[in-house]
Amino acid sequence: MLLHEEACMHIIISMMTYRKLGKTGMQVSAVGLGTFQFGGSWGVEFSEADVQAIFAEAEVQGINFIDTAECYGVGHYSEQLVGSVIQGNRDKWILATKFGHKRIEKKTNVGAWSADEVRQQLEESLRALRTDYVDLYQFHSGSNDDYDNDELWTMLDKQVRDGKIRFLGASLSRKDPAWVTYQTRKAPEKGISVLQVRYNMLEQDVDQDFFAFCTSNDIGIIARVPMASGMLSGKYQELTSFDPEDTRAKKYDAQTIKKFQKEVQHIIDHQLPAGMDMPTYALAWVLANPAVTTVIPGCKSPEHVRKNAEAAAVTLPG
Ligand SMILES: NC(=O)c1ccc[n+]([C@@H]2O[C@H](COP(=O)([O-])OP(=O)(O)OC[C@H]3O[C@@H](n4cnc5c(N)ncnc54)[C@H](OP(=O)(O)O)[C@@H]3O)[C@@H](O)[C@H]2O)c1
Repeated sequence: MLLHEEACMHIIISMMTYRKLGKTGMQVSAVGLGTFQFGGSWGVEFSEADVQAIFAEAEVQGINFIDTAECYGVGHYSEQLVGSVIQGNRDKWILATKFGHKRIEKKTNVGAWSADEVRQQLEESLRALRTDYVDLYQFHSGSNDDYDNDELWTMLDKQVRDGKIRFLGASLSRKDPAWVTYQTRKAPEKGISVLQVRYNMLEQDVDQDFFAFCTSNDIGIIARVPMASGMLSGKYQELTSFDPEDTRAKKYDAQTIKKFQKEVQHIIDHQLPAGMDMPTYALAWVLANPAVTTVIPGCKSPEHVRKNAEAAAVTLPG
């Protein structure tokens, strides 16, 4: 083999694009990686080797943004897997994690919102992630009472000054739409630079006012569950129910599945651009909103990572 041919085989072509995450100034990949699935809640267990393969592909694709949480799996399991894979390579990744819960059993979380509990969670997350700082630390789907705790934010500000947290964020709960409005409006005064919300073609917890507020206050937006938990991949058009071990079995009853299938079929028949597949379209649709900084699809395999990364380079017609 000629030398230049050998070299060509190792050239990695990434079509990734990067966007500024609000006033953090961090340049994050337009397609990031969600890691809820590593906690095992969807009836699939992940090993270190599985996660290693997913992260290796993410790196090839130019993905640099990872979203995890304290409660994805018992004992910070998702964070542990992420930590084991990125050790020695920490600086290549922008790590976002969350606080406010403790996972005490496979499917049970309890709230842990006091300043002391959160300080302890932060130490546990840093240990699990095998790092001495997180790039983004997010208030995780709490109530307005949990949010309006000055002691908590004072403690978090100190962690920022001590270098354990670079920036603060909030992942807004779906439980009460009034919480979304309230917590968004109050975000700047709490020093929050990034908000995370559920936003996909089938489920939108936020409206144009939310996007306008974030844009005018330079707040970065992380769009979570961008594939409607897999429904927008287009592969569930014949499904009648999820496996009982899969948390989606609780979330999506037969009626909801049917409703989503109908909506997805409509998208496939009337909106999907020729030659594009549904996972790419679903993510590109979210990214077409200029207020959105990054999408964080959960990926169960390197193939998912590869396919989902393609969305970053897509410009949708009209
Ligand atoms: N409150 C919060 O802060 C909160 C709540 C929820 C999620 N999140 C974050 O958002 C992330 C994403 O949410 P999510 O994983 O629940 O939902 P999602 O990204 O909408 O769906 C992910 C699922 O879709 C399927 N999928 C992904 N890529 C695919 C592809 N290319 N082709 C076919 N199927 C594909 C996979 O499941 P199957 O193969 O099994 O279908 C995958 O697990 C989480 O990992 C987490 O980081 C945060």
